[in-house]
Amino acid sequence: MFLDALSSHADFVLQRLLLSTQGHAALLCIVVAWAVWRSWRFAIYPKLHSDESRELPYLIPRHGPAFFKDSNGLLARARRHFAGTDEPFALTAFGHTFYVVTHAKHSAEVYKNTDSLSFEEFVQTLMRCNGNDETTIKTVYSPLPSDKAGFPNPEGLSLGVLAQRMHVHQLHPGENMLVLQNKVRDWINRQLNLDVLVKECKYSPSRTSTRIQLPLYEWTSDYFVRLGQYVYFGDVLDRVIWKMLYQYPSFLCRDMTAPRDRMMASLKAYFQIPPNERRDQAAWIINAMEDEMRALGVDDENLAIMVFHLYFAINTNARKTSFWMLTHLMRNPEYLAAFRAETAPAFRGDELVDVSYIQDATKCPQTLRVAGWAASVRLVTRDVVIGGKRMRRGNRVMVPHRLLHFDEAVFGDDTDAWQPRRWLDTDAGRKLPSSPSWRPFGGGRTKCSGRFLAKFFVTAFVATLLRRFDIEAIGDPPMPQPDVGRPVLGIISVKEGQDYLVSITKRKTTDVEV
Ligand code: HEM
Repeated sequence: MFLDALSSHADFVLQRLLLSTQGHAALLCIVVAWAVWRSWRFAIYPKLHSDESRELPYLIPRHGPAFFKDSNGLLARARRHFAGTDEPFALTAFGHTFYVVTHAKHSAEVYKNTDSLSFEEFVQTLMRCNGNDETTIKTVYSPLPSDKAGFPNPEGLSLGVLAQRMHVHQLHPGENMLVLQNKVRDWINRQLNLDVLVKECKYSPSRTSTRIQLPLYEWTSDYFVRLGQYVYFGDVLDRVIWKMLYQYPSFLCRDMTAPRDRMMASLKAYFQIPPNERRDQAAWIINAMEDEMRALGVDDENLAIMVFHLYFAINTNARKTSFWMLTHLMRNPEYLAAFRAETAPAFRGDELVDVSYIQDATKCPQTLRVAGWAASVRLVTRDVVIGGKRMRRGNRVMVPHRLLHFDEAVFGDDTDAWQPRRWLDTDAGRKLPSSPSWRPFGGGRTKCSGRFLAKFFVTAFVATLLRRFDIEAIGDPPMPQPDVGRPVLGIISVKEGQDYLVSITKRKTTDVEV
């Protein structure tokens, strides 16, 4: 304890001491104390406790800032430091110890163990960060009667845990998901038209009646946010957002200028609209979540924050996947042609008609592999052994998917390269989608419930775009760089300032007819 406290405050103490008249002697004391602490923490303690994960050594300050500045670099450094072993290692960041699991076999142990490893704490932290009050968090995570009204709850779970079942009910293949897929199909058929793009994409640097130039990342982001909004809320939320933008100039309502706060304010306004003006356009999950929350007495403010998480989930990753998929396809015309040909049977003329065909989207695993940058995080609620190492209660376990996705022992040589053939040419390649090293959607009970819809979103959008248009990069730009330094909840962003300017032109003929 003493040595821990010493390390946290050492830089502050150091500055003060340097100013004092006996600075030299004090500095010597500090250096000796630091050397003792470091040898204890990173040499003696690990020898005495060989059943615990070894910790990545740090100087001062700890790894927190490095994690945010270059998380990929930090993990790669850790991997090099512990080269030759697959054992989980430990990192200290933001005052917490994280056990980092780098081996697929051990990640499966993490996903299986729901008794000692909790996902809920991660969600509660997110709720707290986004402004939910403690009463709401407690209410949402208190067990409910098994015979309550609304969504069936035979196990008497809390709403926080029951929500996972509700997501599955909405988002796994079945009747409820088909409703969403048909909405997506109709929206894309309507909106992915040159006339609409020319009218709506004000950020386009050049537009004519036959061609439009678009910054691809900005466009896919804008397009998917509007699509996601429509799928979950119909047109109503879009109208609320616009109304709010016009009604409240930013100098009158400063807190609405930040996108997150503006979204939450818009969602709150949405829930204040009379139900008969909005509910028939909304997806089942939005109405069901509203009913469950209201039954628990959650107010509009906290309801809006909770639903903001659903808004975020549907809007954040499909747009980036589409961006990376399109940039890779454009740079590999033979794959672009193959993708066009494979998806052609889902179309009648230019219209996407067959959602079940396009749903078989085994088409983008390679993009998800190279662009996936999520990490599953769990709280250790009871001491547990994973990968042969004891993990202590109160610390966190992290499975960074990117380390698994770039494992040469599993994915072969040249792991940085986008090579769809990796998945097709050999028996081992064809088995990769069921490999425990393939985790773009996490795993276990909390594996992304939106993964089927996400694949449909991306495939339907890219296939319709390529069916209707020719798309090419303007000039000869290099491949945009992924922002590997910044951890995200899913798919990696593009580095700032590296958007990809493309020209989209109506195709003269549909050369692959059904
Ligand atoms: C390519 C797109 C996507 C990727 C890569 C992705 C990735 C992930 C990951 C890594 C997790 C955490 C899993 C864990 O820690 O165990 C997650 C959770 C989740 N995702 Fe996605 N996601 C995507 C799209 C979507 C979409 C479109 C939706 C909604 C329509 C969605 C809804 C959810 C939900 C609700 C959870 C929480 C799990 C639960 O409580 O059921 N995701 N996603």
